Amino acid sequence: MKIALGTDHAGFILKSAVVDYLTSRNIEVVDLGAYIVDEEDSYTDPAFRVAGAIADGEAEAGVLLCGTGYGISIAANKIPGIRAVPCDTPENARIAKAHNNVNVIALGGRTIKPSDVPEILKTWLDTPFEGGRHLRRLNKIAMVEKSTLNVIQGGGRITIFNHPLIQHKVGIIRDKNTSVKQFRELLQEITGLMVYEITRNLPLTDKKVDTPIEATTVKTIEGRKMAIVPVLRAGLGMVDGILQLVPNAKVGHIGLYRDPATLEPVEYYCKLPFDIEERDIFILDPMLATGGSSAAAISLVKKRGGRRISLVCLIAAPEGIDKVHSEHPEVEIYSAALDSHLNSHGYIVPGLGDAGDRLFGTK
Ligand code: RB5
Repeated sequence: MKIALGTDHAGFILKSAVVDYLTSRNIEVVDLGAYIVDEEDSYTDPAFRVAGAIADGEAEAGVLLCGTGYGISIAANKIPGIRAVPCDTPENARIAKAHNNVNVIALGGRTIKPSDVPEILKTWLDTPFEGGRHLRRLNKIAMVEKSTLNVIQGGGRITIFNHPLIQHKVGIIRDKNTSVKQFRELLQEITGLMVYEITRNLPLTDKKVDTPIEATTVKTIEGRKMAIVPVLRAGLGMVDGILQLVPNAKVGHIGLYRDPATLEPVEYYCKLPFDIEERDIFILDPMLATGGSSAAAISLVKKRGGRRISLVCLIAAPEGIDKVHSEHPEVEIYSAALDSHLNSHGYIVPGLGDAGDRLFGTK
């Protein structure tokens, strides 16, 4: 495990106690400064460095030190996915982890002694997150974060789209009175709007063109290619939304059914572009419910050589996110909405029902 550490001048007095305790547990400490005591140093920069390291996946958690732990946690909490609180006692640390799953703990050099540090850190690290109703609350918080990048507990990355246009359309598609025609159109439109973000990391190179005025250098997407892979059958409803914007993407198909005896997903069809290992692959599966079929689809694509894989969904449940990330932590999940939980039949709540039936009018 890697923990990022940041301090200002007023927290510095606790720094060696933190390093000593974490290293005694074989935890790697990424020291992001300050390295000397300078009264002019503010708590803001170390807060943003530590929070940024967690958001970028360079560290799993963070310890921040300032005079009280207050200012530095306020600053860190501005970075999406960060849950930082000041803790003065082991009991605070216990509740902060069990209920709030804090990934950053802030300690005050003016409110605790170096000898208090080990017990507070031990309690924070060893207390499990209780999940359940607490996870639902954290998911609500994650949904209102301004940026689209959130780190969910379980270690993987998920991007939730909180753009008003997407939220508006998701609202209509959830309505049980929305017709099949409208459902199809909306699913395509929402997927199309998501393309802007899911293609954000495609690499660019320079290219020369002549404008009517002069020769100039423009950006062009590098030779790397995209593949979109709908999971049958509901994933089909997302394909055209992407192809309208990326018409040269190749399309594979995966068919899975659930074995009624084992409840495990079983492959019945898989046809992928022949050069799948060279492509950025986007698996399309509108409802990430238990995560069983999405995780199996990812495994199938990996078995055929796929390496750079993302999962694109319309609605995700925390259970499905955890399942996919526990099996494929490197896969980035994109979802237009993050819902509360699954009901006893495995349907996402509030969800929209069965996306395949609503898309094809089979119910
Ligand atoms: C610095 O004097 C102090 O204000 C700072 O370390 C922290 O306590 C702020 O919340």
